[in-house]
Amino acid sequence: MTPETGTAAEVPSATSAPAASGGRASVIRQDLDNVLHPAIAHKQLEAEPLVIVEGRGSTVVDADGTEYLDAMAGLWCVNIGYGRTELADVAAAQMRALPYYPHTAINAPAAALAEQVNGLLGGDNHVYFVASGSEANEAGFKIARQYMKHEHPGQARYKTITRYLGYHGTTLATLAAGGMGDRKTKFEPLGGNDFVHVPAPYCYRCPLGLSYPSCDVACAKTVEAAIQGEGPDTVATVLVEPIMSAVGVAVPPDEYLPVVAGIAKKYGCLLHIDEVINGFGRTGAMFAHQHYGVRPDMVSIAKGLVSAYLPIAATVVKNDVFKSFVGEPSEMRQVFQISTYGGHPVAAAVARRNIEIIQEEQLVKASADNGAYLLDGLRTLSRHAWVGDVRGKGLLAGVELVRDRQTKESAPPDVIKRVVDFCRRNGVLVGRSGGGRHLGNTIQLSPPLVITRPEIDHVVSVLDRALVELGSPA
Ligand SMILES: Cc1ncc(COP(=O)(O)O)c(C=O)c1O
Repeated sequence: MTPETGTAAEVPSATSAPAASGGRASVIRQDLDNVLHPAIAHKQLEAEPLVIVEGRGSTVVDADGTEYLDAMAGLWCVNIGYGRTELADVAAAQMRALPYYPHTAINAPAAALAEQVNGLLGGDNHVYFVASGSEANEAGFKIARQYMKHEHPGQARYKTITRYLGYHGTTLATLAAGGMGDRKTKFEPLGGNDFVHVPAPYCYRCPLGLSYPSCDVACAKTVEAAIQGEGPDTVATVLVEPIMSAVGVAVPPDEYLPVVAGIAKKYGCLLHIDEVINGFGRTGAMFAHQHYGVRPDMVSIAKGLVSAYLPIAATVVKNDVFKSFVGEPSEMRQVFQISTYGGHPVAAAVARRNIEIIQEEQLVKASADNGAYLLDGLRTLSRHAWVGDVRGKGLLAGVELVRDRQTKESAPPDVIKRVVDFCRRNGVLVGRSGGGRHLGNTIQLSPPLVITRPEIDHVVSVLDRALVELGSPA
């Protein structure tokens, strides 16, 4: 597909309707001449541009009129679906009243949102607002370090135990915390020994060569070995995304998180849970860690917090941690950082209404029920030799493609691309894992929580046809 050429520029003003199809070619030209895009190769964008101009429910529409079922909810984030114009009304009203004020002062929407989020997380927390998931994790690292300086002045607790194959964000520290080599190499070296990695609970390809349940979740126990090896009085936190999303939706055994939580507690480390994708209903619970009955010390939230209608995120800390930051000015105990957009009143007002919609429309239950339905549908794809594993929880699912089921050799990148492209040509946008050269072989699905069963059937049937078209592995 090549971009059309020759149509007159039709640049929408800030108040006009979405770009009309007549302007698509000029928008593409304007973009390619001026924008440096994230993650996608520019030649690929030039060859296959998407110019999304509007959306409703689970569907987005290109400027050329083509409709796509967005089975990734953007970047795993538009939980309540597109086209909720009432959120525009909430934003406009708040913008008229107060567009911004720094969060060194109090604003009503952020206070109300904090109370709402606190309630969802057990009621004994305080909420530190930022603008992105990366910032939320980064703030978590800093809050943990500062907390350890306050509470254990004789120790140097600064390290984070984290997992290979994890993704926790795009800043240098969150990248270092992640365990996806391919995403890091262009930026290395990434500081010192702040982040210590242990094997991921990726059961289909157990890094310890074991099988569940006889493994006795040995991967969880490596966290203890790492803490002991590093020296417990150097470790501040253990960081876990309950269901590892970006590597292809690795769902751990149920015991995994409780075992890790117990180890963190035993050594006085804070348990930091990354709910940036997992949160707000994505996995069939309001927060994924709630499936496993653990109580984290810190939780990072973003994406579904506001269904990406505006940028807002937060680091939620338990009151035990919060207390350490309370004091007189002369004590200098306050959080030693600030983000300009933290506690943004407009984003907070919109996030608040977003959460109400999730609750009013029972989207967490819908995610659990329709997620099970999706998984059942995806399991039928196992009739294709390319399908090595199908897994998921709630509306978060992965279909791992392999060349050989015995050896589990990953399907090569061109095969994954053919599947993704087939789906797109047939009106369905799916994702692929970011595990790098060797593990970029999982088709990922994370649709809006409002996706309907006929839409789920459509996604499964298009994937089925894509796999038929592939034929058998050579
Ligand atoms: C688990 C996880 N944590 C953190 C982030 C970073 O969030 P952001 O892109 O908003 O900085 C992401 C992004 O996808 C993520 O998947």
